Amino acid sequence: MDLLPVAQKVIECCRSLALCSEEPGATTRRFLTPPMHDVHAQLRAWMERAGMRVTIDAAGNLRGFYTGESTTPLLIGSHLDTVPHAGAFDGVLGVVMGIALVECLKKRPLRFPIEVVGFSEEEGVRFGVPFIGSRALAGSLGPEALEARDAEGTSIAGAIRAFGLHASEIPAARVSGVLGYLEFHIEQGPVLESLGLPLAVVEKVAGQSRLDFVFEGQANHAGTTPMPFRRDALAGAAEWVISVESSAAESATSAGFVATVGQLDVAPGASNVIPGSVRATLDVRHADDTVRHHAVAQLTDRAKAIAARRGLRVFVHTQLDHAAVAMDWQLTEKLEHSLAATGLRRHRMPSGAGHDAMILAPLMPAAMLFLRSPGGISHHPNETVLLEDVAAALAVGLHFLEGF
Ligand code: HGY
Ligand code: MN
Ligand code: MN
Repeated sequence: MDLLPVAQKVIECCRSLALCSEEPGATTRRFLTPPMHDVHAQLRAWMERAGMRVTIDAAGNLRGFYTGESTTPLLIGSHLDTVPHAGAFDGVLGVVMGIALVECLKKRPLRFPIEVVGFSEEEGVRFGVPFIGSRALAGSLGPEALEARDAEGTSIAGAIRAFGLHASEIPAARVSGVLGYLEFHIEQGPVLESLGLPLAVVEKVAGQSRLDFVFEGQANHAGTTPMPFRRDALAGAAEWVISVESSAAESATSAGFVATVGQLDVAPGASNVIPGSVRATLDVRHADDTVRHHAVAQLTDRAKAIAARRGLRVFVHTQLDHAAVAMDWQLTEKLEHSLAATGLRRHRMPSGAGHDAMILAPLMPAAMLFLRSPGGISHHPNETVLLEDVAAALAVGLHFLEGF
């Protein structure tokens, strides 16, 4: 089967969905914002043409079900939300690949059903809480999680209601008795390109910590307050941010350790006012949870020491502490066998990025296939894929499903 035309259709669909955005000229699509209705409409049409029964669950996950001889489905999916000013493939590619595979298989009987899932939220941008969609399937999205609020004060439950759904029905989104979970995802880094490889199977997803650090000083007049009398929250936060970068860069002892401050919210936020308060986010990743936890403790102590020296106060809130998760050995073996059977070199690698697979892996066998990220760039409009790599991934997916 010539899969290049199918791969072309997959890429065109991802690029079309990238136009479903909260802002013109960029791809920004957070949890259950209005453009997600457009994404659902486009994917629902393709799912129904492929013979799938389509529903949207109470957490806003798009779910296409393709029947098979047995009653125990295999899940194929990824997330439909994006970071601000995103690329066109992070998350979406895994959903569109699932639909394309069902369409390719349509002529052949399936021994088991396939459910393609487009998760409503994995990035954690709108509420600071990631994995809302996959946690609903895992049964770990309790009522207390729905109280998190976005910058406008809307709660997760409120966003669900505004989307036309009912949070009380979230328990019904939970899955049980499934064969496993398969996720196609771009690598989002430089490794496969540097090795000249199109695809790789994922052996482990790094653990991640996400925290808010609030530095509090004293807002005051920028023109009349002598330097020795200042308690500048932004200057203190900035000193800490530099130490976050340098400690991660120097940690040669633990390769693969990364730490990022991605957001700084400065208050009151005027050029002639000494900043009184700053919220800084911290994102720490490593494949070894002990290394990650030790690093978070060190960076927290560093923030407290800087604050004490500068007469500031600092408050720390943990948004997420998720352990590293190994993919299922047997399912990964099968996926790697399909990689080799389609004539490609076997390669396994860890994932520094988090994925919905890490939420589902404790409940079912989970496996991931990475596609090369040309330029090694992601979470950026230049994020892309190669046509022949998408075709190769489709071939691996078909071999995997037919042999399953
Ligand atoms: O941040 C991540 O690891 C992923 O893109 N959600
Ligand atoms: Mn992402
Ligand atoms: Mn992703």
